[in-house]
Amino acid sequence: MLLGSESFPKPLSQIPYRCMLISPIMKTTARAGSNIAFIKFWGQKNQKLRIPENNSISMTLGNLWTQTSISLEEDLHHDLIFFEGKEASLGFSKRVVQHLDLIRSMANTESKAIVETRNNFPMGAGIASSASGFAALTVAAAKALMLNWDSKKLSMIARRGSGSAARSILGGFVELLAGIDDDTSYATQIQPETHWDLCDIVAIVEADEKEVGSSEGHQLFKTTPVHSARLNKLHHLLAMTRSAIERKDFASLAKASEQDAIMMHAVMMTSDPPLFYWEPGTIELIKAIRTWRIRDGLPVFFTIDAGPNVHVITIERFRNEIEKRVQELPLTKQVISSSIGESARII
Ligand code: PMV
Repeated sequence: MLLGSESFPKPLSQIPYRCMLISPIMKTTARAGSNIAFIKFWGQKNQKLRIPENNSISMTLGNLWTQTSISLEEDLHHDLIFFEGKEASLGFSKRVVQHLDLIRSMANTESKAIVETRNNFPMGAGIASSASGFAALTVAAAKALMLNWDSKKLSMIARRGSGSAARSILGGFVELLAGIDDDTSYATQIQPETHWDLCDIVAIVEADEKEVGSSEGHQLFKTTPVHSARLNKLHHLLAMTRSAIERKDFASLAKASEQDAIMMHAVMMTSDPPLFYWEPGTIELIKAIRTWRIRDGLPVFFTIDAGPNVHVITIERFRNEIEKRVQELPLTKQVISSSIGESARII
């Protein structure tokens, strides 16, 4: 999408790259995995800076990623943003350009860019594309602009695009420290991806785009008394989760994660206006997963982001068995799964 002009947007293959004839365009490509949070953040202390209300802990996903290429082009007057090979929508382009502007301001440049981005997973699947998307965009843009940022700085900047993107800069098990301002709000790695072979089986019960996205949803947290009740409990759940990861204690991780997912949805459901993300298939999965763990002794638990689809967490050697059970449930429409993955990187 060419912002600020109606006349130019064309498929990438048809753009007359005048400069290509003079000098080859340098393309920088980065890839970042999405992530799934065991302890989630909901609500923001500062909306503009996207400073989350509370710390969150996640696992980066290795097989579900966004790949983003950036070509800086001195002669372009506007950024050109392409998603999945086509010009991106206005809303999508606006967020990308805003993020590029932030990074450009730090590099003291106004060079415009051609941005091509794609996910290897479908939109609307309940897999956080804004997490992998803004992490990949941050890493690619920083490299293209020769900003030699460490992972802390990359994470702080990725957070400005989307809170959960701050975690996708790092691989393995990651904690996003909420902090109190721009400099203190960034993610750190708790353990690398080699520490514990967990995997995420995403059960899709509804593939339609959600009506209220997380950016809008975060703003409602102050309207419910349940939010402060959740915050009071979080200190304990965060400690329990860190320790469970450290000790590879699946039962404790399951307990803390399920409790927090349910509490976050209680916050959403009691907001004004209320946000109901769950569908009948969500409840079917919640009940089945608890039965498989408690009755059948299988290592499995659920967590749910701002949507109806259910992330089913297990250990690699139980993946086939759990995938089969999830697929057999009447309301599961599709299943996508991923191993734990590594940090965002230039490829
Ligand atoms: O990164 P955002 O602004 O889309 O917010 C993420 C919100 C949740 O996915 C519901 C929770 C989390 O910590 O990932």
